Amino acid sequence: MTTHGESPSAELRAAFGEIDIYLFDQLLKGRFDRRPRLLDAGCGDGRNLVYFLRRGFNCHAVDRDAAAVSHARSLAAEFAPTLPPDQFQVAPLDQLPWADGSMDAVVCSAVLHFAEDEAHFGRMVTEMGRVLAPNGLLFARLASNIGIEPAVGAAGRRVRLPDGSDRFVVDERILVEWTARLGGRLADPIKTTNVQQMRCMTTWVVERVPSSSRRSAV
Ligand SMILES: C[S@@+](CC[C@H](N)C(=O)[O-])C[C@H]1O[C@@H](n2cnc3c(N)ncnc32)[C@H](O)[C@@H]1O
Repeated sequence: MTTHGESPSAELRAAFGEIDIYLFDQLLKGRFDRRPRLLDAGCGDGRNLVYFLRRGFNCHAVDRDAAAVSHARSLAAEFAPTLPPDQFQVAPLDQLPWADGSMDAVVCSAVLHFAEDEAHFGRMVTEMGRVLAPNGLLFARLASNIGIEPAVGAAGRRVRLPDGSDRFVVDERILVEWTARLGGRLADPIKTTNVQQMRCMTTWVVERVPSSSRRSAV
């Protein structure tokens, strides 16, 4: 039991919300240290924002669903009431309403696999790269065919996953290519969780590298 008399799980949930565990892993690794301007791209109900709001990050969020943004705004009002509500915007990921280089970190969890096709995927990743600062970090979790290629076939297109959902899937080659196009390097090896052969979710973490040190980073 904790000093507050709460169960450990209740205490963790109070501090971190329902944060994605792979995002939590990146927090523990220090990837968000000294990266105060944060964008949650495709924030949904804002489960990944709770910790950052409480910890005083300069949070921004976007989603194409107005109800999701309204929910994120109410979380901000609760945990970080001084943040301007217009930092939480309804918009598509391929048209972000922020300036070039204005974010130190972009979190994009379980969103990119809603891409309509490869061109749409590319526009969204390019747009997130546009708003990232020179030393910025992109954290993404998305569906892939890694480990279930025989069941779903080639990546770079929408497929029917064994769990019955239709998703745009990537593979390692696509992510490595986009890492280079973003002018970054992999902060961690690409890691994939195979959910009992039903779907595979890949964690992709890119650290932007200033152009002066890019050669050694690739
Ligand atoms: C499965 S939810 C994930 C929410 C949150 N990131 C999380 O990890 O819990 C996907 C969210 O992405 C949003 N979304 C999907 N495609 C989008 C797009 N092209 N532009 C903006 N939001 C998008 C949906 O509206 C939804 O809120």
